[in-house]
Amino acid sequence: MSKVKLSELDFFSAEVQECPFHVYQQLQQEAPVWQMPGTNVFVVTRYDDIREIIRDPGRFSSSFSALLNTGSSNEEVNAIYGQGYEMVETLLTQDPPRHRVYRNLVNKVFSNKRIEGMRSEVEKMSNELIDQWIDEPEVDLLNRFCVPLPIYVISDQLGVPRSELSLIKKWSDASASRLGRLADEEEQIQNAKDIVEFQHYFAALLDRMREAPEDNIISDLANNTIDEGRLLTKPEALGMIQQILVAGNETSTSAIAGGVVLLIQNPDQQAMLRQHPDLIPAAVEEILRLETPTSGMWRRATADTKIGGVDIPEGAFLMVRFAAGNRDESIFTDGGAMS
Ligand code: HEM
Repeated sequence: MSKVKLSELDFFSAEVQECPFHVYQQLQQEAPVWQMPGTNVFVVTRYDDIREIIRDPGRFSSSFSALLNTGSSNEEVNAIYGQGYEMVETLLTQDPPRHRVYRNLVNKVFSNKRIEGMRSEVEKMSNELIDQWIDEPEVDLLNRFCVPLPIYVISDQLGVPRSELSLIKKWSDASASRLGRLADEEEQIQNAKDIVEFQHYFAALLDRMREAPEDNIISDLANNTIDEGRLLTKPEALGMIQQILVAGNETSTSAIAGGVVLLIQNPDQQAMLRQHPDLIPAAVEEILRLETPTSGMWRRATADTKIGGVDIPEGAFLMVRFAAGNRDESIFTDGGAMS
């Protein structure tokens, strides 16, 4: 793709979104902190600027949910959300010190013991999925491995029966689509319906787990306490469950699928890993760098400030593009290559 005129760049166009890396490079060279024309959104693409932003929650707040909640001018969408639970700030859209309260709870729920205990079960699920198609000449790896594996893992952890797995995918996709803010009106309505359905499903499950606790994440969230001994409110617990659901699903699917594609495109690296499986953890890091399953995130300026020499007014939104920073040639030599 040749250079684009930044004053005419439509960052969200299908063309740019399909392969944004040339645009990222151009932005890094010409306007590393680029204000989208006609908006109060600044796109940040350099590694050092991104790092500075995400390490300074005082200046750059994670409370960007206003951006999500004011998204629709469609009355129908708002009316549907009105039938669900209030959305409160917990993890992703909360700042310190309050963020720490919820984060401590998540750390407790995702204890090393629980994660380590998942290992053999995840291996078993992976083998079962692979056994289903290993003798076939061709496989749709995305739909027969990369999508179902995280859904199985997260559903088991959340205590959702296998018969209801398609709901998990639907709810996760709706939440991710809402966060991505690229949905048209029809999709926004469907997202709202799916998210409210999700809220009522898990509100009922939380009640059941409070009555009869089990060994799963929902049960822990239902019964652990915060703030000197109180249980989470339903909106707090639902907010956290929604984030775990989305964070655990699409990211892992993209990482697995992107990793396989990278290894196919880099047969020498693939051969090296087969010979030296001890290099797999380093390869996973490299896959996460190149694939960057969470390609970007939002921050909001809490006061007039500067980043990368550019003035940012209070209240402006910063779209930090991890996917750009992860290939920044000033940090990673030949940043687009797998090494
Ligand atoms: C390859 C897989 C994953 C990637 C690349 C990824 C990436 C990220 C990133 C970049 C953030 C920080 C966002 C920010 O700075 O505001 C984040 C937050 C989070 N992720 Fe993940 N994630 C992955 C897998 C998971 C999984 C499997 C879970 C849970 C099952 C999870 C749960 C969360 C939660 C709860 C948060 C919010 C944390 C907080 O605010 O303290 N993620 N993730």
